[in-house]
Amino acid sequence: MSDYALELLSIRCTFLSKDDPGQRYTAVDDTTLRIGAGEFVSVVGPTGCGKSTLLNVGAGLLEPSSGGVKVFGQPLTGVNRRAGYMFQTEALMPWRSAIDNVKVGLQYRGVPDAEAHAQAEAWLSRVGLTGFGDRYPHQLSGGMRKRVALAQTLVLDPDIILMDEPFSALDVQTRQLMENEVLELWSAKKKAVLFITHDLDEAIAMSDRVVVLSAGPATRPIGEFVIDLPRPRDVAEVRTQPRFVELHRQIWEVLRDEVLKGYAQQLRKAA
Ligand SMILES: Nc1ncnc2c1ncn2[C@@H]1O[C@H](COP(=O)(O)OP(=O)(O)O)[C@@H](O)[C@H]1O
Ligand SMILES: [Mg+2]
Repeated sequence: MSDYALELLSIRCTFLSKDDPGQRYTAVDDTTLRIGAGEFVSVVGPTGCGKSTLLNVGAGLLEPSSGGVKVFGQPLTGVNRRAGYMFQTEALMPWRSAIDNVKVGLQYRGVPDAEAHAQAEAWLSRVGLTGFGDRYPHQLSGGMRKRVALAQTLVLDPDIILMDEPFSALDVQTRQLMENEVLELWSAKKKAVLFITHDLDEAIAMSDRVVVLSAGPATRPIGEFVIDLPRPRDVAEVRTQPRFVELHRQIWEVLRDEVLKGYAQQLRKAA
């Protein structure tokens, strides 16, 4: 068996340009990314560089123009069934209560209702929502909705967890609580995590490894850093450690120019 849970191999993704019909736009090019079983890897890069594109490739939701994906050593065709996803946008069904949202994946899998219910309850309490199962999404705070989404993902016990800027809409305090909770849950089960973020502090605080992507077009990895900070970590506390500051300085040196390029591109697009 492969030591890697997820391998993105020489990925290229070309789209028909939204801005310039008829033109093709190479969002991602020549990108290889490997995530070990149990490894927590963050990918950082400027807005619009191709982070979500890569995550969608790993999820099997987007077929790359060239290159391939392997899941535990096997070539991926179609949706990645070993993976669970958590996206930036709200993914809860507003017409379903919290517990029914958590249950939905189990129901698709044909788990009998009583068992699905019990597992969903257990996950709601693991994410700190005991007693909130009958609330509807609109009756919950943004942080609580993220907790439900987290339970919805983890109840399926995926071997690979794909997260696309899951906490970027939250206020700083709520976000740090959620980050710590994710780390705690992860350390108990050690799943492979691909965590997408544009926030370097978050990436360093959470990860075993941080991969920096260049600004587009033809985005590719331009730096890779092993985060040798001890675990368990508290994401707020770890930021004060000298090693964190040093890693941040090193990575920012690589990332800064890309962020500036990315920003200039956004301005050009908007003009
Ligand atoms: N389906 C698509 N059609 C056309 N262009 C796309 C499509 N998906 C993404 N892109 C373009 O690819 C680039 C990377 O997008 P994305 O992966 O969403 O960036 P990020 O997640 O890093 O902000 C952007 O320029 C975006 O406009
Ligand atoms: Mg994105």
